[in-house]
Amino acid sequence: MILVTGASGFVGRSLMRALARQTIPAKAYPGRMNDPLALRANLPGVTTVIHLASAETRGRPRLLQHVDVEGSERLVEECRRAGVSRLIFLSRIGADPNSMFPLLRAKGEVERILQRSGIPVTVVQSATLFGRDDRFLNVVASLAAWTWPFVWLPGGGQKPLQPLWVEDLVRCLVALLDRPDLAGQTIQLAGGERLRYSELVRLVLTTAGLRRIGLPVHLRISRPLAMVTLGWWRYPPVSRFFLNRFSVPDVADLDAVLRYFRFHPGRVSENIAYLRRPGLRRQLFRPQSRVLPLPENAPQSTS
Ligand SMILES: NC(=O)c1ccc[n+]([C@@H]2O[C@H](COP(=O)([O-])OP(=O)(O)OC[C@H]3O[C@@H](n4cnc5c(N)ncnc54)[C@H](OP(=O)(O)O)[C@@H]3O)[C@@H](O)[C@H]2O)c1
Repeated sequence: MILVTGASGFVGRSLMRALARQTIPAKAYPGRMNDPLALRANLPGVTTVIHLASAETRGRPRLLQHVDVEGSERLVEECRRAGVSRLIFLSRIGADPNSMFPLLRAKGEVERILQRSGIPVTVVQSATLFGRDDRFLNVVASLAAWTWPFVWLPGGGQKPLQPLWVEDLVRCLVALLDRPDLAGQTIQLAGGERLRYSELVRLVLTTAGLRRIGLPVHLRISRPLAMVTLGWWRYPPVSRFFLNRFSVPDVADLDAVLRYFRFHPGRVSENIAYLRRPGLRRQLFRPQSRVLPLPENAPQSTS
């Protein structure tokens, strides 16, 4: 039995659908990360935990400490007690306990906690993901819809990015279940093409049917602007950590997915038809999609 934390999130929903499609016995963890009793109640019989829960999208460093770091400490304690034999943790490229960026520092701390747990762990450091319900390209398109006739290009839009399609990442996570050779390892995954942010934005605008003039915004201005405009939202449309990707490399080897999992990840242009939808402006204010934890192996709609 596999237990998935953060199963109701962007990655978690895709992962649960994929596990159900392949009839792999899996259940969503329904409790809070800092609740040892809920963890204890859900771990018996579990062999592998895929750990996705995170407060990243809330954009608050204090919550990262509480949910990601302290929550992972609780998880490890209870996994040891329950005899879980494997952990898979979805981290980020650039994770480092000494990073000056709170998100990457928290991810680095979680990696360290899991690696010191004594339980074999595979750390998957992923580049930024995109997909139907992402808070990345949807937000780029939606913001552009509001900022006519411009589209903001933080840091001049020169930053190279290598976004990975969430369905490809999920395929890798599922494949990891049959890859004991990757236990105890850290692997970096990213998409198969490297695009400058301005190129990615062009692709997004074309797909969404928008015409905008690129407006370079210096990172020194983008940061305080993001703090002022996003700092007070309970569920901000864009996490304050969004701008990290313009300061820290968010790329990996171009053949990383192929090398580890023997398939070519999809191209961005082939997998962003979801941006062609009405109500683009409203997307910015849409609440985070929330779905109830899935029953074990329930067939899921992929629509
Ligand atoms: N999205 C990306 O581009 C990307 C790239 C690389 C790595 N990652 C990592 O992948 C993981 C999943 O990302 P995501 O995009 O799916 O995030 P997400 O959509 O924000 O989902 C986060 C999940 O964590 C759960 N969660 C939050 N606080 C919790 C708490 N206190 N106790 C239990 N569960 C809690 C949420 O459930 P509730 O809604 O019920 O709180 C939700 O299911 C994260 O660790 C993220 O850092 C994401």
